[in-house]
Amino acid sequence: MDKAKKIILTGDRPTGPLHLGHFVGSLQNRVKLQDEYQQFIIIADVQALTDNYDNPQKVHDNILQVTLDYLAVGIDPKKTAIFIQSMIPEIAELTIFYLNLVTVERLKRNPTVKEEIKNKNLSENLTAGFLMYPISQAADITAFKADLVPVGEDQLPMIEQTAEIVRKFNRIYAPVLVEPQALVSTVARLSGIDGKAKMSKSLGNAIYLGDSLEAISEKVMQMYTDPNHLKVSDPGKVEGNIVFEYLDAFDPDKNAVQKMKDDYQKGGLGDVVIKKHLIEVLENIIKPIREKREELSKDPEKVMKILQEGTAKAREFAGQTMKEVREAMKIKYF
Ligand code: TRP
Repeated sequence: MDKAKKIILTGDRPTGPLHLGHFVGSLQNRVKLQDEYQQFIIIADVQALTDNYDNPQKVHDNILQVTLDYLAVGIDPKKTAIFIQSMIPEIAELTIFYLNLVTVERLKRNPTVKEEIKNKNLSENLTAGFLMYPISQAADITAFKADLVPVGEDQLPMIEQTAEIVRKFNRIYAPVLVEPQALVSTVARLSGIDGKAKMSKSLGNAIYLGDSLEAISEKVMQMYTDPNHLKVSDPGKVEGNIVFEYLDAFDPDKNAVQKMKDDYQKGGLGDVVIKKHLIEVLENIIKPIREKREELSKDPEKVMKILQEGTAKAREFAGQTMKEVREAMKIKYF
């Protein structure tokens, strides 16, 4: 480990393969950051189980899928330690001790948790495990003394809660933990193909990094455009038109996109033409990822070996933190 480098920790819940929203929102950034920082990527299976405890097979299977996505986009296991959360018992240990530092009322006020309880209809059966997952996430971050946590806006309350735990721990016991900073993605969130504000597996509106050309074509052809643009000769709207949102995000030729927007707004440019163009643009991006993913998936044992090595590296680091924590908390007996 390079001690001079600052530490980054970030990760995902393994609940499905990753999609273009992840690609623009976080994956591209991680590929860049791994050169400059010591990067850890956590595959948060313990967190995924908080609302999928009755579907362990799904969480299990998606560990491999998510890892394939990471490797296919260019996350390099020589630079980044990719590891599995449940294989780091220190994270569970830290979670237990941090539980004392957070009130139940504070957990209930966490905006991200509140939103999820509402969206996932959990209020009737809210488990202790789900309510306290931000504490477990604080353990993920602090076990690695992360300086920076690259996240989307929705994760800011988690970093805030982590910082509170760190300050309280360091004040009561000893200054062992590092207060993390959020590194908020500046890229606008990618809409789903249906025009909903967020691309997500659960909404069924995602284009995956492993999608075939046929799948991409089918999804783009269904894409939400301008519902009032009925005839090709009609003027069309660009705002809220998902095809143009994606061209802005993915077409490297900005001038060509501007010209298409102008023509579309004037009238005379049909949806099929812009969609065919978008299919080409997306295929150019996804094809090399899909091919790398297919190649890697032929040897799942090799991929699991990468995870095993990343997990061993992560465990070594977390073990050191745990030692310091035990000492600070006076729970080191022999
Ligand atoms: N909560 C994050 C998500 O839903 C996943 C995650 C778990 C995470 N532990 C983390 C993100 C630690 C950053 C740091 O996407």
